[in-house]
Amino acid sequence: MCGIVGYIGFRSAADVIVEGLQKLEYRGYDSFGVATSNPHLAVYKCEGKISEKFEKARELHGSIGVGHTRWATHGVPSDRNAHPHLDCTGRIAVVHNGIIENYSALTRELKERGHTFLSETDTEVVAHLIEEAYDGDLRAAVAQAITHLKGSYALLVTAEGHEEIVAARDSSPLVLGIGDQELFAASDVTPLIGYTERVVYLDDGDLATLDREGWHVYHHGTPVKRAIEHVDWDVETVRKGGFPHYMLKEIFEQPKVFYDTFHGITPESLPERYRRPSEITVVACGSSYHAGLVFKYLCESTCRIPVRAELGSEFKYFTPPLKGIVMVITQSGETADTLAALKKAKAYNCPTLAITNVLGSTVTRIADHTLYMRAGPEISVAATKSFVAQLAVLMQLVNLMSPKSGLSGSLERANSAIDEVLLQDIGRAVEICRPAEHLFYVGRGLFYPIALEGALKMKEISYIHAEGYAAGELKHGPFALLSEETPVVALCSPGDTYSIMLSNIKEMKARKAPIIGIGARGDRELIDIVDVFLPIPESHELVQLIATSVLLQQLAYQTAVALGRDVDQPRNLAKSVTVE
Ligand code: AGP
Repeated sequence: MCGIVGYIGFRSAADVIVEGLQKLEYRGYDSFGVATSNPHLAVYKCEGKISEKFEKARELHGSIGVGHTRWATHGVPSDRNAHPHLDCTGRIAVVHNGIIENYSALTRELKERGHTFLSETDTEVVAHLIEEAYDGDLRAAVAQAITHLKGSYALLVTAEGHEEIVAARDSSPLVLGIGDQELFAASDVTPLIGYTERVVYLDDGDLATLDREGWHVYHHGTPVKRAIEHVDWDVETVRKGGFPHYMLKEIFEQPKVFYDTFHGITPESLPERYRRPSEITVVACGSSYHAGLVFKYLCESTCRIPVRAELGSEFKYFTPPLKGIVMVITQSGETADTLAALKKAKAYNCPTLAITNVLGSTVTRIADHTLYMRAGPEISVAATKSFVAQLAVLMQLVNLMSPKSGLSGSLERANSAIDEVLLQDIGRAVEICRPAEHLFYVGRGLFYPIALEGALKMKEISYIHAEGYAAGELKHGPFALLSEETPVVALCSPGDTYSIMLSNIKEMKARKAPIIGIGARGDRELIDIVDVFLPIPESHELVQLIATSVLLQQLAYQTAVALGRDVDQPRNLAKSVTVE
């Protein structure tokens, strides 16, 4: 949550920071702010989205600055609570991503020592702590201040009359960009794309200085060398490329994403110790958890290895007995609950495997081994191409664990199946969903997690209350809610559960619920009992599962657009949930 950007170089710092913050807006978008030093400190901050209100921020002069786009944790979204936060003298500016857990005690102590606070945030204590330690040496002052902090932080600090930015990291992501005569710092690499491909990922406990002479990193006070890595994400990947929303662009990228990811995982990608574990515990959140549930169904039935899927937010507090390997799935590689679970698994000495989309992300530094999705940057808050890329990695994993399953060949048609559903007219289904206040999504077996994912997608971007259920469970309570005003999206692909799904649909129909049925093209039996039929190609069950996922993304997207929602940045959400 929250995105930060710092710049020192020869360009207008405000321009670089404003542009960078817009790329980080997916991390939070309730308020923003920029501070530049020229050599006096100038600050502009306000409630609202930077993409809509950036003009004034761009007027700040100077070639050194820091900026922030916020997802409120402590204090409502407001001008006052927007970052940067300043010390009492107004000469030190701080932007922060993370949570200072002991801020109440620190605030009390600082107030007793005469400091005046202007915001309700946890961050402001940092500015005042630096102020107390500052005698002209900004690095030393920041190093001293952070010794008082408990919690998580990625900090950028600049001070009036000081040609330097100091960056510090503990449990929140921070990356440096190394350009020609210019340096950057940011929450992730997206603001750097187009300026430099050379990046340095900071570790927890690192403090870095960026000045006109260059950059230096210290780890708990000791100078250390950090390797420069190369990022080859193209500038086009962070643009909308003619699409009205990032989400739609990302939905349309899926044929290639699936292909690249599926073929990117080779036998060499998976060390021997992960091939036949006695048991697998999968931990993830949100859409990544749903991908984990698909893996559970698939791996247990194909490889006959017991798999348990756990929510990251629960795992830390209610850890089950662990045997075998622990696998975490996270698009961003920064989800706090997933990282906490991973650390716990390591404490239990389990071999750990991570699946992520982001090179250099925190998860890759903690896990014993990482498998990468090849989805490219996903900007829209709703997970789309990253979900399909996770499925690609997980299906390939099952294939590697059970090479005789023949999964690889069966999935060759997946890209064309995605292409096919992308072009489908789903207007009548959108018409049914649009006026609804409540929706149910039902499926069985492998399609149950897809029902959960379809419902999540619909609720997060359209704000329609949508629930995913295992189709057989509806009778155990939710049937009481069915009426002509509660449409049901039924996932009904051929396979072991086909006939029982048809019976379930008839039962729902008997309670007058309008049914949107998704099934194999030409399935007459299904067509005859549903109100709207959305076909998926006749193909292998896993290809149909992928096609159905994409169709449900489209249904959510088009419904949200019809309702005039802010598709890429739905209310109250942020893409990387870096707080527990
Ligand atoms: C779904 O559309 C969401 N963006 C959300 O559920 C997401 O999948 C979850 O927050 C986990 O994120 P991660 O994959 O980056 O860990």
